[in-house]
Amino acid sequence: MSTQPIVQAKKISKTFSGVYVLRDVDFDICAGEVHALIGENGAGKTTLVKIIGGVHTPSGGQLLIDDHPVQFKNPHSARQAGIALIHQEPLTFQDLNVTENLYLGHTRGRGTPVINWNQLYRQSDALLESLDVRMRSRDPVRGMTIADQQMIEIACALSQNAKVIIMDEPTAALSHGEVATLFEMIRKLKQQGKAIVFIGHRLDEILEIADRITVLRDGNLVGECPREDADQDKLVHMMINRTFKELIVKETVPIGDVVLEAKSLSYPGQYADITLNVRKGEIVGMAGLVGAGRSEVASAIFGTQPAFTGDIYVKGKKAAIRNPLQAMKLGISMVSEDRARTGLVAPFSIKFNMTFAILGRIASRFGFIQSRKEADLVKQYAKYLNVRMRDSNQAVRELSGGNQQKVVIAKWLLTESDILILDEPTRGIDVGAKAEVYKLINELAKQGKAILMISSELPEILQLSDRVYVMCDGHITAEFNRGELDSKKIMMAASTARKRSMAK
Ligand SMILES: Nc1ncnc2c1ncn2[C@@H]1O[C@H](COP(=O)(O)OP(=O)(O)O)[C@@H](O)[C@H]1O
Ligand SMILES: [Mg+2]
Repeated sequence: MSTQPIVQAKKISKTFSGVYVLRDVDFDICAGEVHALIGENGAGKTTLVKIIGGVHTPSGGQLLIDDHPVQFKNPHSARQAGIALIHQEPLTFQDLNVTENLYLGHTRGRGTPVINWNQLYRQSDALLESLDVRMRSRDPVRGMTIADQQMIEIACALSQNAKVIIMDEPTAALSHGEVATLFEMIRKLKQQGKAIVFIGHRLDEILEIADRITVLRDGNLVGECPREDADQDKLVHMMINRTFKELIVKETVPIGDVVLEAKSLSYPGQYADITLNVRKGEIVGMAGLVGAGRSEVASAIFGTQPAFTGDIYVKGKKAAIRNPLQAMKLGISMVSEDRARTGLVAPFSIKFNMTFAILGRIASRFGFIQSRKEADLVKQYAKYLNVRMRDSNQAVRELSGGNQQKVVIAKWLLTESDILILDEPTRGIDVGAKAEVYKLINELAKQGKAILMISSELPEILQLSDRVYVMCDGHITAEFNRGELDSKKIMMAASTARKRSMAK
């Protein structure tokens, strides 16, 4: 629609400690348009929008607003120029209400502002109403969902007359319903003539919302294309120079005896009568819709949810697993779905995170950690997993999502357990990192590990599994061998709601 860009980034480069993370990147943003920015984790997307949003200063290149060169000193000056950066983790103040959060930014300035709160409450109610959001001006922020807090950030940007709204992976923490609401909001903003930058890695979302798509790879601009010319295959190819099918390769591995067996596991209100087994070298997929009870079953096996009934056998012996430590002693490891909450200690180093599950093995007799041994192990696994990092002393929170996931997996690899439970192992990571995780899962099976893999992504289940259980509403509704796998059958079984009530 619009032709004249509001923002033009020309030949932008950025180095951190001498390393190029962006090189000569061109990017522009037009009114009334959603411009998607995609690329593998670590491609430089966040760095680029942080330069546009005044967080980082570029090492080279030029930023133009309405054709005039600008140099932002800080995010505040970018905001004044009409550019708002919405963060993935909303920066709302939990102890304040909606209106206080909305106007906090405005009231900062010279002298003590006289605030007419009644007027502000009226203003924010009008704003919220115009945006069609449920919340009201006096609602407390504490306890709100991430989605609602994002809405506050968007409302805040609008109250400051932002012309450009940049969203960095806004859907990463949202449910399907919340994504739909956010997309409605984005369309509304577009109609109002706002310019939107949308960073994401779910290509179906990108194709739904974007008008134009720019792809970065390793800090370089690969290209830009209008929505009409884009499809999943083309975008994947631009992002990683390969097609998605080529990414998931299943290797044939000899399959041995049953090493993990669950018999009639039940937990009131969550799952009932779960009987399953996993053999040495086998990858067993657990398919189903979100909320089918798969993670809860995994938690039972790993001992984080001990109050279930039923029995678990490890290598033929009945196992009393009441906590994760006992599970680990029996050779069971789990890569959990929520790496931020349970998988990693973000402020600590990569080295620490990789090795703290096995401190016993590398500690010397006197309890000191043998740093040489630790450094060697970490180096070996980081290389193996292709973790992109400066060095192993870097804090985990500085890594991109995909690389964080690799650190979690490395952590459990180092424990050398025989049974591995992977709960959504590729959630929140881009296709390139996914490919590396697939390679790794194959490799683990080859080493003879028994793998139980929960995944909501059908291609993953179809390509990698030797056998698949499907869960729906807390029950196993089907089991398929690799030869009989078929997406339609799995979808059917995943949505066959059983009215059978779970024991209360
Ligand atoms: N503050 C920083 N200091 C050092 N390196 C950084 C910093 N921020 C990002 N990087 C590095 O820059 C590269 C690009 O990161 P980023 O822009 O976050 O990528 P994306 O958002 O595409 O995943 C990564 O290799 C990352 O480790
Ligand atoms: Mg990023």
